[in-house]
Amino acid sequence: MIRILANDGIAADGKELLVNAGFEVVTDKIEQNDLPAHVGEFDVLVVRSATKVTADVVANPGKLKLIIRAGVGIDNIDVPAAEAKGIEVRNTPNSSTISVAEIAIAHLMGIARYIHQSNRAMFEVSDKETFKNLKKEYSNGVELRGKTLGIVGFGRIGQETAKLALGLGINVMVYNRTAKKVDLELDHIPVNPTPIVSIETMSLEAVLRGSDYLTLHTAATEGYLLGRNELELTKKGCIIINTARGGVIDEKALVELTDAGHIMGAGIDVFEGEPVVQPLVASNKNFSLTPHTASSSIEAQAKVSQEVAELIISKMKVTA
Ligand code: 3PG
Repeated sequence: MIRILANDGIAADGKELLVNAGFEVVTDKIEQNDLPAHVGEFDVLVVRSATKVTADVVANPGKLKLIIRAGVGIDNIDVPAAEAKGIEVRNTPNSSTISVAEIAIAHLMGIARYIHQSNRAMFEVSDKETFKNLKKEYSNGVELRGKTLGIVGFGRIGQETAKLALGLGINVMVYNRTAKKVDLELDHIPVNPTPIVSIETMSLEAVLRGSDYLTLHTAATEGYLLGRNELELTKKGCIIINTARGGVIDEKALVELTDAGHIMGAGIDVFEGEPVVQPLVASNKNFSLTPHTASSSIEAQAKVSQEVAELIISKMKVTA
């Protein structure tokens, strides 16, 4: 029987498809240190971001033939090491797009109106006076309509984020590593005919200087894409959202520029050194934080699991 290890779990929809198709699906987590010794007992390894598929893990691959990243970023997989052992590596790039775009906009809206801060402060409301003081303290948020959101990285998720922003009346400026022109169909808006917005990419510098807010949608980068110099180019009062990868942005510089009042706040789902979060990031009142849950909605994980199942079913022959 073909054995699949879904080491970071798999949603019920995909698991059911696989079991019905005659595969064995194991979801008991094998700890990172024990993985090299056991991975060869499986034909397929499915991981999210928690399991690291290092060269050590695939050194003695046994019957392992396919690794699937149930998600987008494959920076936790040593792809050359796996391929050198004859193991194919795939991901599921289509399924989590909407969820990531939605959480990026959620962070942006929350920070713009201090929802992240007032949520925490409301725990302390005990009398009318504190309520009044909090109302005063959090009454200077800003509207987003008519402002400009800089989108750094214009693949599936960047484009979906642009669609949501445009739907809210927010202008977009876009940077992409390779320049491109995209005719974006706003097919999520229930109007006929579907509006199409033509978007041309610009230089990173133009986007950093010209945007009121920024959201990052790139793959992991070697070194910071937004280091101190780039962050200093942003407009005063900028809000920065990172649902891409820790390490794309210099967290230390981000903290310092936020504490100095240049950056209004940051929405961060992914962290340098994740799963460890630096105390200066975790405790910063101007940061709206989520524990890498951008793709962790019911719908996204159901779709991811179906994409995983379809990949496996198309590639592996069920044996008795
Ligand atoms: C991805 O690359 O798909 C996201 O970062 C989600 O990671 P996760 O599957 O660990 O939530």
